[in-house]
Amino acid sequence: MCGIVGVIGSGAAAPLLLEALQRLAYRGYDSAGIATLVEGVIQRRRAEGKLANLAAALAASPLPGSVGIGHTRWATHGAPTEANAHPHGTERVVLVHNGIIENHAELRAELEAEGQVFETETDTETVAQLVDLHLRQGMTPIAAASASLRRLQGAYALAMIFAGHPDLIIAAQHGAPLAVGFGTAEMYVGSDALALAPFTRRIAYLRDGDWTVVTREGALFFDAAGEAVVREVKLTALSGAAIGKGEFRHFMEKELHEHPAVIGDTLHQMIDPGTRQAVLPKLPFDLAALPRAVVSACGSAFYAGLVGRYWLESIARLPTEADVASEFRYRAPPLAPGGLGLLVSQSGETADTLAALRYMKAAQQHIAAVVNVPESSMARDADAVFETVAGPEIGVASTKAFTAQLCVLACFTLALARARGTLDRQQEQALTTALLEVPGRAAEILDTHESIQRLAARIAEARDVLYLGRGACYPIALEGALKLKEISYIHAEGYAAGEMKHGPIALIDKSVPVIAIAPSGPLFEKTASNLQEAAARGGQIIVLSDSVGAAKLKGIASETIVLPGVDPFVAPILYAIPVQLLAYHVAVLKGTDVDQPRNLAKSVTVE
Ligand code: F6R
Repeated sequence: MCGIVGVIGSGAAAPLLLEALQRLAYRGYDSAGIATLVEGVIQRRRAEGKLANLAAALAASPLPGSVGIGHTRWATHGAPTEANAHPHGTERVVLVHNGIIENHAELRAELEAEGQVFETETDTETVAQLVDLHLRQGMTPIAAASASLRRLQGAYALAMIFAGHPDLIIAAQHGAPLAVGFGTAEMYVGSDALALAPFTRRIAYLRDGDWTVVTREGALFFDAAGEAVVREVKLTALSGAAIGKGEFRHFMEKELHEHPAVIGDTLHQMIDPGTRQAVLPKLPFDLAALPRAVVSACGSAFYAGLVGRYWLESIARLPTEADVASEFRYRAPPLAPGGLGLLVSQSGETADTLAALRYMKAAQQHIAAVVNVPESSMARDADAVFETVAGPEIGVASTKAFTAQLCVLACFTLALARARGTLDRQQEQALTTALLEVPGRAAEILDTHESIQRLAARIAEARDVLYLGRGACYPIALEGALKLKEISYIHAEGYAAGEMKHGPIALIDKSVPVIAIAPSGPLFEKTASNLQEAAARGGQIIVLSDSVGAAKLKGIASETIVLPGVDPFVAPILYAIPVQLLAYHVAVLKGTDVDQPRNLAKSVTVE
């Protein structure tokens, strides 16, 4: 999964391509490259590693030309080297690609037999060589591109330019998103509207199977059958303003400090302050008639969905199933028509989650998407969109988007419970009141997190860490472990506290910190018993609890982080913050690349 961009302008394309690539770096940062036409001839600059390396290469050897394409890569086929960096191509055509060409081996064999000479092992180069073969056989660029697209299997967003054609970009979408931007005297293509936002707000989105012929005059759109189609140009609400870190060292630190505001903004959108009732946007289906729900998502967003499952079942009494999106459709779950398909995603572009959405849609579920990017593919495909008001999240590790997802799921649960008659007005008001107190409690945690910083020094020395939680706080244990793994590279596992005795307890010794997510509430005593079991075996117990819980666990805790007391309903939202903060401080101590950890990308647009 990668970010792609293309510009046909009046001035130099390279600086615009670089600016757009900065905004796409969340899609990958293994290598980057751009190509332009210089007096009709294709020229490229590429660099291994972060965009700064490409910028340095361009500064050393500038690239003129007013038409060009650019790419930021998350390696799938082939190592993240300069040789494998996009754009790929020949002297006739060069292209950038996001996705995976599944029939690349078969195409390569066929093309080599035709005399095409490959430079790389990448799947992307097969597309360039295929187009090149058609050009060599005398086809026009449009005919060559269209004939080539018909041969491709897999997922792709592509943008290509052609030697000797300074007024042409051909771009296509199949399973990976592509936006076309309409400027005044320029035209743009890009993986998303955010990349194009500094240049234009007028955006048309391709649909799957579409391809487009872009010139300075505008864009023509064609569907998979080659029929001319109209794709509406809309005004995007996205801002082109530069996104900075302010006074913070990292985007992740800044985003952690945005928790109170983001939680507040998201709740204010979904709670009527007068009635203290949860409010939803107008839905094209009847909430009260839903027989069941299926929740699917990836990574942290899945953990938010798991918390949602606890709430939907225990409060709204709706039978709910949850599964990671990469497995969901391959189980081929039978879904009776009329159920709710609930997808959770910060980006709204994650390939597996999008595929789960489409599976659910084909099975006639009502689709609701909890997304942070209102113009994303998931938002466009869903019947109902519940927006998290988290703003752009740049740090690869999700933080504020996660708590915003929890807030949306909490409010959705309350509205559903009211519709299903499982919650009376007073109970709902008590729960919305508890929710509205979370921003203040979140701010208290952020104001006094020296104890978390101290704990980080200890965790930074560990080789393995266990996180335990019960009920709706079990997914927070999973979130804590994932966050620690991904940014500090320390091995960590999250377990349901009661499950530990069925195996993981064998891991416990003095060197393994056991971090307990243990707010006061109906499950506290059960968690406390599980912690006793771990302590009895020499486990180093670190307790995250309120003052009441902390007092009860004093005897076995080697360290305690005391958090504000809250209603157990909202504890998962609040307790997500210290586990994320802990991972952040550990990563800082370990000196890792906090905002762009190794091997990761913010938006995973391949399966
Ligand atoms: C972890 C993290 C990932 C994402 C996952 C889904 O910190 O950020 O696990 O949660 O890749 O991404 P979205 O939410 O964009 O679908």
